[in-house]
Amino acid sequence: MTDLSILRGKHIVLGITGGIAAYKSAMLTRLFVKAGAEVQVIMTPNAREFITPVTLSTLSGRPVITEFFSANTGEWHSHVDLGLWADAMIIAPATASTIAKMANGVADNMLVTSYLSTRGKVFVAPAMDLDMMVHPTTKRNIALLQSYGAEIIEATEGELASHLVGKGRMAEPAVIADAIASYFAHGCDLAGKKVLITAGPTYEKIDPVRFIGNYSTGKMGFAIANAAAARGADVVLVAGPVGNLSLDSRVRRIDVESACEMLASAESEFASADYTILSAAVADYRPAEVAEHKIKREKDKIPTLELIKNPDIAATLGTRKHDGQRLIGFALETDNETANAADKIHRKNLDMIVLNSLRDPGAGFGTDTNKITLMYADGRTADTYPLKSKADVADDIIDKMLTL
Ligand code: C5P
Repeated sequence: MTDLSILRGKHIVLGITGGIAAYKSAMLTRLFVKAGAEVQVIMTPNAREFITPVTLSTLSGRPVITEFFSANTGEWHSHVDLGLWADAMIIAPATASTIAKMANGVADNMLVTSYLSTRGKVFVAPAMDLDMMVHPTTKRNIALLQSYGAEIIEATEGELASHLVGKGRMAEPAVIADAIASYFAHGCDLAGKKVLITAGPTYEKIDPVRFIGNYSTGKMGFAIANAAAARGADVVLVAGPVGNLSLDSRVRRIDVESACEMLASAESEFASADYTILSAAVADYRPAEVAEHKIKREKDKIPTLELIKNPDIAATLGTRKHDGQRLIGFALETDNETANAADKIHRKNLDMIVLNSLRDPGAGFGTDTNKITLMYADGRTADTYPLKSKADVADDIIDKMLTL
């Protein structure tokens, strides 16, 4: 988690729309104000059905804006002034309707008008029913907002207002505040840089129904891809077979299955990459032959599987690396961690290696956390970090990558 004190003195416009998650925006306002930020709340007319402006004006210390004009005084609320004032704007919760209006410039309320006038960074925390969330219309509108530079703070899975269970719950206030603090801490320090990432396991085919694989879930690589995209990079993610992981729509994703396919895609993207981060758990061996038909069980015979070596993607790219390119590998170890990782740095011509040990609880495959040590080719002292969320680990890796 980024220290929220970085929000001190920052001007934040908090847009609240008409969703049940609007009650969480009171907590979000409180977090901002406690961190020393100045908060101006704008509510859509519908939002007032879910939470009262009195709650938010009390917490923010400023009158809440809903209408273009104050009914009592005729005073005009200037969306232009607000747009210039805001260092950041966060729409939380953002309904499908407001997201659609923002994506298409339908400026029929103060919130969307202010969004169109905002020069600062825009964050959007969607909250809606699960079917609305996955509707092509919503997906397209969210992708449009991202292409205009907004950062989407992903909704989470759980029970929704409809009592259906799925993705659509607004991110928790602490997560939203952290995303904004992280933006102020890092800015767009990867703007103009291409980052190539490999993630997930590889599957090495035995026959049409079987493969050799491993327990990698791709979570760490996806977290790095999301963090790099949020920091302004042009990100290409070569992903092995992984489950449903959320990915920033600005990331260009190439799905592959085997080590050979992963190498081919990584090779074709590598020459133009400024930074390459190889987090995939690539199978070291593959069956020498792939059976064309399913291998049948035979009564008294146990088949033997002949294996051959897979290409080492990291080592291959390491030999092609030119001045100005930086290559980062991972080492997941169970013993002799430091010596093994140091050996890999040299053998694969890496600039930095991310070491995680399966001996550390909460580190490695499948978890949402990781505990890493960063080791460097230039001989500087290794950095050891405490257990953190994979999102925070991703930012730590990028921070150090930028010092290489
Ligand atoms: O040798 P080891 O598999 O432990 O090395 C780990 C690092 O090398 C990781 O960055 C991994 O993505 C990369 N690697 C690779 N191709 C392989 C094996 C590992 O890119 N065939």
